[in-house]
Amino acid sequence: MMSKKIVLITGGAKGIGLAAAKKLSSKEMKVIINTHTPLEEKEAKELEKQGIISNGFEGDVSNENDAKRIVENIINMYGHIDVLINNAGITKDKLIFRMSLDEFEDVLKVNLIGTFNMTKLVIKCMQKQRSGNIINISSISGLHGNIGQGNYSASKAGIVGLTKTTAKEGAIRGIRCNAIAPGMIDTDMVHKMSEQRQNEFINQIPLGRFGKPEEIADTISYLIENNYITGQVITVDGGLTI
Ligand SMILES: NC(=O)c1ccc[n+]([C@@H]2O[C@H](COP(=O)([O-])OP(=O)(O)OC[C@H]3O[C@@H](n4cnc5c(N)ncnc54)[C@H](O)[C@@H]3O)[C@@H](O)[C@H]2O)c1
Repeated sequence: MMSKKIVLITGGAKGIGLAAAKKLSSKEMKVIINTHTPLEEKEAKELEKQGIISNGFEGDVSNENDAKRIVENIINMYGHIDVLINNAGITKDKLIFRMSLDEFEDVLKVNLIGTFNMTKLVIKCMQKQRSGNIINISSISGLHGNIGQGNYSASKAGIVGLTKTTAKEGAIRGIRCNAIAPGMIDTDMVHKMSEQRQNEFINQIPLGRFGKPEEIADTISYLIENNYITGQVITVDGGLTI
């Protein structure tokens, strides 16, 4: 019998990461979520009942030592990592002329450097296995830009370049890497925007609603299953960027 696929999802406590964790554990994969800060004991136990492990994998993906500890813990406990989903992300929206260097750097650190840190460490394990699959969560903001998101769109565009390079470097060793560019998805990240701005977006979306985190989780699941897709960016945005 083949052993279960080991999946690591960064920033998996809520939103898209949590929806992906639930979807993949229902597909008989062993799902480990990294959370920025430890979950409440009750919450961690509840997730464990659903086959989602969080204890021991807390940390900041932009911190190299945290990233090392998370990956080492997985290898010590399970021996391999089959799928990495670089999902952790933040926004600090402001128009560029009002944005401080700190605000620019903070977003680059978590979104882009966090993705680099985790990819670098996990790809070493995947190279030894001669197989693996990395899925990076980018954004339509990284493909098309978005007012107020100079830092965020730069970080998400960087993820696209990193994805394509990872795909080119990894292919010879059986490693695939793709990105998903979600549009407006119904999570805390979008709820942070004013109601007026949310409604403005809904009016521009041809399908007339925000996406559900589960719809991004479905795309992640598809990218894991299809062995012939690599180096691609899949937009999932209800038609917003048509
Ligand atoms: N919601 C959207 O409309 C949307 C659109 C495009 C892309 N995305 C991307 O999807 C991903 C998930 O976002 P979401 O919508 O679920 O938002 P969310 O705010 O619900 O989730 C983000 C997660 O990242 C974690 N995180 C933040 N900083 C971290 C760090 N330094 N180390 C580890 N974890 C950290 C948070 O704790 C949280 O669990 C992000 O990369 C985001 O940029 C979201």
